[in-house]
Amino acid sequence: MKRMQGWLALLVLGTANLLAAATQPTAGPGHAAIASAHHLATDAGFEVLAAGGNAFDAAVAVTAALAVVESSSSGIGGGGFWLLARASDGKQVMIDGRELAPAAVDAKRYLDADGKLDRDRSINGALAAGIPGEPAALVHIAQHYGRLPLAKSLAPAIRLAREGYPMEARMASMLAMRKDVMLRYPASRAVFFPHGKAPKLGALIRQPDLAKTLERLAVQGFDGFYRGPTATALVAGVRAEGGNWSLDDLANYRVKEREPLRFRYHDFELISASPPSSGGVLLATILNILEGYDFAALSRVDRVHLMVEAMRRAYRDRSYILGDPDAVAMPIKLLTSKAYAAGLRSAIRLDRATPSSALPEGAVVAGGTDTTHFSIIDAEGNIAAVTASVNLPMGSGLIVPGTGVLLNNEMDDFALAANQANAYGLIGTDANAPKPGKRMLSTMSPTIAFGKDRIAVIGTPGGSRIATMVLLGLIDFFEGGAPADFVAAKRIHHQYLPDVISAEAGALTAEEVAALRAHGHSVSESERPWGNMNAVVWDLRSQQLTAGSDPRGLVGKAEVR
Ligand code: DON
Repeated sequence: MKRMQGWLALLVLGTANLLAAATQPTAGPGHAAIASAHHLATDAGFEVLAAGGNAFDAAVAVTAALAVVESSSSGIGGGGFWLLARASDGKQVMIDGRELAPAAVDAKRYLDADGKLDRDRSINGALAAGIPGEPAALVHIAQHYGRLPLAKSLAPAIRLAREGYPMEARMASMLAMRKDVMLRYPASRAVFFPHGKAPKLGALIRQPDLAKTLERLAVQGFDGFYRGPTATALVAGVRAEGGNWSLDDLANYRVKEREPLRFRYHDFELISASPPSSGGVLLATILNILEGYDFAALSRVDRVHLMVEAMRRAYRDRSYILGDPDAVAMPIKLLTSKAYAAGLRSAIRLDRATPSSALPEGAVVAGGTDTTHFSIIDAEGNIAAVTASVNLPMGSGLIVPGTGVLLNNEMDDFALAANQANAYGLIGTDANAPKPGKRMLSTMSPTIAFGKDRIAVIGTPGGSRIATMVLLGLIDFFEGGAPADFVAAKRIHHQYLPDVISAEAGALTAEEVAALRAHGHSVSESERPWGNMNAVVWDLRSQQLTAGSDPRGLVGKAEVR
C-alpha cells in the first residue's frame, strides 16, 4: 500500500500541470457578485445580468464599459486575458486577447544611436502600440460563451461613450501623468484636453467616435473592427504617426483559446493565466516553493523572507525563459512541478538572502493602478476573472483620429533590447524578443482558486508586481481572509532584479525591516501604494458571496446582488 502511494505521488508530481479541470460546483450560489475598478462598469455588468446574461456576457459588458470609463487602464485599443470557468460542464479556458507585434516590427527602431532603448518610442505614440486583441476577445466570448447578442452586452458601453461619464480624481491623476504625450495628438487632445486642459472634476467626458467604433463592433462583430472603415482609419492613423501597422495585421489577428495554467497548493486547485502571460507560472513556482514550509507557523519576518526568496527565483526564470508559447518552446511542465520547486527550495536558507546575481540592476517604475482586473461570479456559478490592459497609464497616449481608439503601449512589454530593463524594470532575452506576429510576455494573472469550502476569483493591475500581489491575496485567502480585507492589505514585492524588497508604507514594521536587512536583504520602504485588486469569494458552505474592491483605486465597486 505504502509503495502504491509513493508511486501515485510520483505520478502526480510528473503531471503537475496536466491536472484535470479544477473541481467546480455545478450548482450556483443563486445570486451574483461583481468587483471591478469602476462603479459604472460594475453597474454595466449587473445591467446585463438582469437582462438574462450570464457571467460571460457580464464580462463582455464590464470589459467594454471599462474601455470607456477607465480608458486610462484598458480598452479596445489594448488586450488582455479572460479566464472563464463554466458551471454547466466544468469547462475552464483562457481567452488570450493579448496584443501582438505587427509584421513589419523592427527592433532597431526602438533603439537610439548607442543601441540603448529609446523610451519615447517604446512607450509613446504609434510605434509603442501592438495590434489590439480586446475587440476580438469580446466577439469570441459573446459568440462562444455568452447568452446575449454582442449588441446587448456592448449597449452600456456605447451609451457611456455617447452620453459621457463624469471626470473623477483617479482619471485626472492618470491624465496628469501623460499630459505631455497626449497633447501631441489632436484626437487625444479633443477628448481629454479640450482647450489644452483636462475637464474639471464632474464634467462629462464624451467619446462620440468611440461610441461609433463600438457600435460597428456590436453590429458587425470581428469585421466591424479588424476590417472596413475602423481598420482603415487605424492603419492610416498609425502610419501617419510613424508606426508600421498594415491592414493584414488587423485582419489576421486571432484570439487564442488556451488551457489555463493549473497547479495545486495544499488542498486548493488553482487556475491562472498561462503564457504568453508569466503570471500563472510565477504563482505556481512561488506557491510550490512555499508549500514546503509550515507557513502559518512562521514569524512575519520569516514569511516575508521566504516569499521574497521564492519570488526572486520565479522572476529569474521569467527573465530568461518565458515568452509567447506560439513562438518559443518553454519547459512549463518542469517549471511548475513540485520537484523543480523542491530543488529551488533546497538552496534557500532561512537566515540569509541569496543575492540575485551580478547582472546590472534596472530602474524600476512602480506598478500603479493602470491596467484593470475584475472578478465575476453569477447566480449559476459561472466565473470570469479578467485582466485587461493598455499597459502604462493612457497607453501610448495616441487616440487614432476618427476612431476614438486609444492605442496601447504594450510593445514595451517585449524585451526590445536584450537585458535592458523595460518600464517595469523587467529584463528579458530571446524568448521575449519582438518578432512579427508574436505576443509580448505579460505578468497579468487573473486567477481562480478552488477550495473544498471556498472559491476565490482574484487579480490586479501593477505591471511586474501583478503576480506578487495576487500571491499575497491568495495567501490571505488560503488563511481564511475576506476579499474586502485582502484587496486592501499592504504589499511587498521582489522581482529578482533589481535585487531589492519594495514595501508599501505600513507593510513592514521598523523591527521587521531591520531583521530583513540583517538577513542581507535590501529593503526600499514607504514606496507609493501600488495595485488595484478586485476579488470575489464564494463560500460553498453558506452559499454567500463576498466581494472587495481595492481602496487604492478610488472609484472601484464591489457588489453582491
Ligand atoms: O501585461 C503586462 O504585464 C503589463 N502590460 C501590465 C501593465 C500594468 O499592469 C500597468 N499597471 N500598473
